Amino acid sequence: MDQDVLILGIETSCDETAAAVVKNGREVLSNVIDSQIELHTLYGGVVPEIASRKHTEKINVVIKEALAKADVTLDDLDAIAVTYGPGLVGALLVGVGAAKAICYAKNIPLVGVHHIEGHISAAYVEHKELEPPFVCMVASGGHSHLVICKDYGEYEVIGRTLDDAAGEAFDKVARAIGLGYPGGPKVDKLAKEGNPEAIAFPRAKVDGSVYDFSFSGLKSAVLNYLNQCEMKGEEVNTADVAASFQAAVVDVLVDHTVRAAKDKGIDTVTLGGGVASNSALREQMKIRCKSEGLKLYYPSPVLCTDNGVMIGVAGYYEYIKGVRHGYDLNAVPNLKLGER
Ligand code: KG4
Ligand code: ZN
Repeated sequence: MDQDVLILGIETSCDETAAAVVKNGREVLSNVIDSQIELHTLYGGVVPEIASRKHTEKINVVIKEALAKADVTLDDLDAIAVTYGPGLVGALLVGVGAAKAICYAKNIPLVGVHHIEGHISAAYVEHKELEPPFVCMVASGGHSHLVICKDYGEYEVIGRTLDDAAGEAFDKVARAIGLGYPGGPKVDKLAKEGNPEAIAFPRAKVDGSVYDFSFSGLKSAVLNYLNQCEMKGEEVNTADVAASFQAAVVDVLVDHTVRAAKDKGIDTVTLGGGVASNSALREQMKIRCKSEGLKLYYPSPVLCTDNGVMIGVAGYYEYIKGVRHGYDLNAVPNLKLGER
């Protein structure tokens, strides 16, 4: 393509109001994220109704700021990409509504993007050499998916969680040891002071499916351990609990990912989603991929958690393939990857 393609990416599926301008799918011109985390911390988790209201309040401000930081106007945009699922329906609707309104007013194409496709696409930004095929481990608060990216926009989900997502397990364990929401970064920090081998928490295997995950048994094992300590009047070493729990999650995520790459004969592994910013996961994955001769790419932490850049990148690849959505685009809370 001889002309630059500028895409505004909008993301409002959970508790971040985010917008970004992305050039030619790989260059970030701006990345504005208004996080509601502090607000939801008061309630120990995301309150959907509050999230929607906050998105409504912030969406225009965030979009304006993204355009200003990129030094462009709405007239410079080639298309708008927006997350339309999966996520909280009221939250998604705010982004989808804003995107449709601008596309209609400016007569530019609208491209709906799957949230997980966004997380998968985040790795393209800082690794210009990265191209499909690769195996991507997407682990966030709502999802734990093992995906083969066969080509741009072409995915096969080969593993998923049967119960809790990895990030959800981090959040629940964090709450149980008194760390508060969001748990992932807090467990990550505390785990650095603990011994990952102190407590032998289970590494769950799912019968008949080598790539699927299950984290609810691990979460229960941690809660049982805490209860038992309380009953026996023993003091809990929370750093050891954090480190041992984290090691159990990381072991399973790394094992499944490396196994998938080897089984499928794919030499490249990527990470995405909030949990991909976990320092132990990044470290272990690096060690295992190196010893197995696999290339590994992961985004900076700011591009692992929800952001508009990843939607702009995914939207670019959909846009150049000719994907367009109509003004009847709706929020789809349980959208499956690969569906349109
Ligand atoms: O991708 P994301 O921002 O939102 C969803 O799509 O869900 O992921 C948020 C999740 C939360 O569960 C959070 O606790 C987790 O990612 N997370 C982490 C870390 N940073 C964020 N989990 C483990 N270690 C981290 N450093
Ligand atoms: Zn996400």
